[in-house]
Parts: sequence; C-alpha cells; structure tokens
Amino acid sequence: MTATEPAGAQAPDFDTIDFYTDPSLVEDPYPYFEHWRNKCPVAHWPHHDVIAVTGYEESAEIYRQTETFSSANAVTGPFPGLPVEPEGDDITDLIIEHRHVFPMFEYLVTLDPPEHTQQRGLTMRLFTPKRMAENEEFMQGLAHRQIDEFIGNGTFEVLADLGKPIALLVIADLLGLPEADHKRLARLFAGLPEVGDEEGAATFGDPLAFLAETFAGYLEDRRANPRDDVLTQIAQATYPDGSLPEIADVVRTASFLFAAGQETTAKLVSGSLKYVAEEPHWWEWLREDRSRIPGFLEEVLRMESPVKSTSRLVRHTTEIGGVEMPAGTTLAVCPGAANRDPRHFPNPDEFDPTRANAREHLAFGRGVHACPGAPLARVEAKIVMNALLDRIESLKLNEEAHGTGPDFRHDYEPTYILRGLTRLVIDFVPKDPAS
Ligand code: HEM
Repeated sequence: MTATEPAGAQAPDFDTIDFYTDPSLVEDPYPYFEHWRNKCPVAHWPHHDVIAVTGYEESAEIYRQTETFSSANAVTGPFPGLPVEPEGDDITDLIIEHRHVFPMFEYLVTLDPPEHTQQRGLTMRLFTPKRMAENEEFMQGLAHRQIDEFIGNGTFEVLADLGKPIALLVIADLLGLPEADHKRLARLFAGLPEVGDEEGAATFGDPLAFLAETFAGYLEDRRANPRDDVLTQIAQATYPDGSLPEIADVVRTASFLFAAGQETTAKLVSGSLKYVAEEPHWWEWLREDRSRIPGFLEEVLRMESPVKSTSRLVRHTTEIGGVEMPAGTTLAVCPGAANRDPRHFPNPDEFDPTRANAREHLAFGRGVHACPGAPLARVEAKIVMNALLDRIESLKLNEEAHGTGPDFRHDYEPTYILRGLTRLVIDFVPKDPAS
C-alpha cells in the first residue's frame, strides 16, 4: 500500500496494467515489478508486445550480450517500434535499414558496435583522470555557492535550488564552457528568460539548441586557434582510429551528456535527500561518520534507481531465463526492478546503507553501454551531501509542501523511463558559522 492509498483499497490488477501509460504506477512501481518478477523474471507484458526483464541476473546478461540485443530502441522502447513486421531469426539488416525511426538514433546510447565503439571512444576522451580531478575541484566550490543562495531562508527546494543547477553546471565545466556562459545556461535550462533580454529568450528558448550552437562556435574557434584549455583538448580529440571527427559529431556527443547526466544526477541528489529528510536519523548517522556517504549513495541508487527502465531490441532469436525471445521483440530491461531482486539483494525493499553488495546494483547499466558518467555522478552527489553536512545542523520535510499523516505525499515524474521526485521541499536549521 502506498502512503496515499486508503486502508482496505482494492489491490490493483497488475496483470492488466500497462506499464508504459498507467499513471497508477508512477508513485510506486515496485509492487508491480515484484508481481511480474514473481511470475517470471522474464515475462511477456500484456501490452505493446514487450518482454519485461525484472530479474537481476537476466538483466545483467542482456546488457552484456551486445551481439544479440541491439540498443537501437534503448531510450523509448516500443515507441515507435520497427515500422515493418520482423521476419526470420536475424533482423540485423532490418535494424540498420530502419535505425533512423528510433528516437535519439544518432546518440551514443542507441548505437551498436562498431559505430558505438567509435563514438564511445570519443566520449571517454572527456573523462580523463585529469579532467575529472579539475571537475571535482569545480564541484566543491559550486556546491557551496549554490547553498549560499538559500542558506539564509531556512528552506529550499532540492531540485530547482540544488540538484538541477549543480548537475547542469558540472557538465558545462566538464566540457570547458567558460564560466561566463554558465549563468545563461542555468537560466535557459530552468526555463527562465535571459537577463534583460526578453527577445533573446524567445530566440534561445531551446537550451540544447543554444548549447549546440555556442559549443560548435567554440570548437571551430579552437580548431583554428588552439589554446591551452579544455575546449581545445575536446576540439582536437580524435576517434580511437586516429581520425578527426566532424564538429557536428563532437557537438552531438557533448549535447548528449546534458541529456543523459543532468536529470539522472539531480534525481540521485533528491532521492538521497528524501531519505535523510524523511528519516533524520540517517542524517545523524552520516554526520557521525562521513565515510558512510558513498555506501549510503549506492543504496539510494539501488532503491530508487533514477533510470527505471531501458530497452533492447532482440537482433537474433535467443533465450534468456528459459524464455524464448524471437528476433524483433522489444525488451524492457528495468534497473528499478533488477535492483530489488531478492535473489541478489536479500530484503530488497529495506533501505540498508550498510548492505555489503549494494554497489553491484544495475543503476548505471552494464556492458559496453554502462554509464560513463557514473564516477562523476557519484562524486557530485558525495560533494553535495558533504557540503550540506558542513552547512546544515538539522533538516526535515516541509509539511506545507508534502503534507502530514493521511495527506502526506510525494510527486514523481510521470515517465516510464526515469524515476524521481518532481519536487522536494526541505526545512532546515543552518549551522552556526562560528561553531
Ligand atoms: C545518477 C546518475 C546517473 C544514472 C543513474 C545514469 C544511468 C545510466 C544508465 C542506466 C545508462 C545505460 C543505458 C543503457 O544501457 O541503455 C547510462 C548511459 C549513459 N550515461 Fe548515465 N547515468 C547517470 C549520470 C550520468 C552523467 C553525469 C553523465 C555524463 C556527464 C552520463 C552520461 C551517460 C552516457 C553518455 C551514456 C551512454 C553510454 C553508452 O551508450 O555507451 N550519465 N546512464
């Protein structure tokens, strides 16, 4: 039963509920996942001709088998699906022919090897140890600057005031965008008009388009006039085979980092703060020993995986978990479900930040598509938690925003792809700066 469900309410009929469209699953999808896992960790859903993978081992296996499972539909699954009825036991050619119908078909996450290998190599040029270390230094300052904005108010909204702007600017810094552009980007991503330029807001309304245009300009400039900066390193980065990519390809790689890394990391931050605000003993527990923060974050990633479902398209007819998968079938591979598989995580619905194997979760996927931003997201969330512990004495949920008793509520993003709060308002007592 969920917090808002009245006692004695009839159990929902999970056998007939459509995972992709039914709003009743948004608040708490976990009983639904459990229902299907209990039937079979690899089971046919009644809609859209999809096989749902809710088991841990089965999901990990599918992520590993890139040859058998295409990522062409990784982001949106059965929508729109292949435009023709697949025939035979190998649809490799069909996928190549119709790849462009799938949303985000030019981005890393939907590519298959060998194209994926090339593009991934380019992406990984951004995540060098040196760049990551500089980025971490930037995060430290950024977290405190962001907290400065609300520390005097005694209350803050985690996503708008902290999670989203930090996640955005961390990627902007990773890409070497000049700090002068950061404020502008933050306003555009927050849907605010540009300062003193209402017409400009209309012109640059689409933040990704603005970003692509600005970034392309910087890269062209750096190819023509190399300098000692990150943008020059990115502009000169080559594919693993040594060839120089088109500017448009580098821009696409960079834009995708914003798409992939912003909302997800903001959701990790809000998911973490939900636990400490709802049950402040966790706040005390972290405060007693800050080295507990990484384990705490892994358990949040396991319990509230920001990516609820990913998808794959069966390229060759095969079998996983004893279930036949004909070529052309759409698979929903759900980290949110796999991470609560009791065969891998005993008492999976219990939040236990000392869980020994929490880090084995699939929240960042597995295999060749495993999230390259995982180290960055982990460090970012750790820095945010540490900065809050530095500045805040105690905290709790804001009752006006979240209600109390039977009116208690959290609102989650109504999407089948991601899992996260739409808002989280926290009241706090700041630390005495003199203490
Ligand atoms: C808590 C935060 C994050 C979570 C939970 C997350 C989760 C994931 C998952 C599950 C995948 C695999 C998708 C699939 O196999 O279909 C993925 C891929 C990806 N993520 Fe993340 N991510 C996070 C943060 C980030 C950040 C901060 C960045 C970049 C700065 C990033 C960039 C990417 C990219 C580029 C891919 C595609 C990789 C590929 O296809 O080879 N992610 N992420």
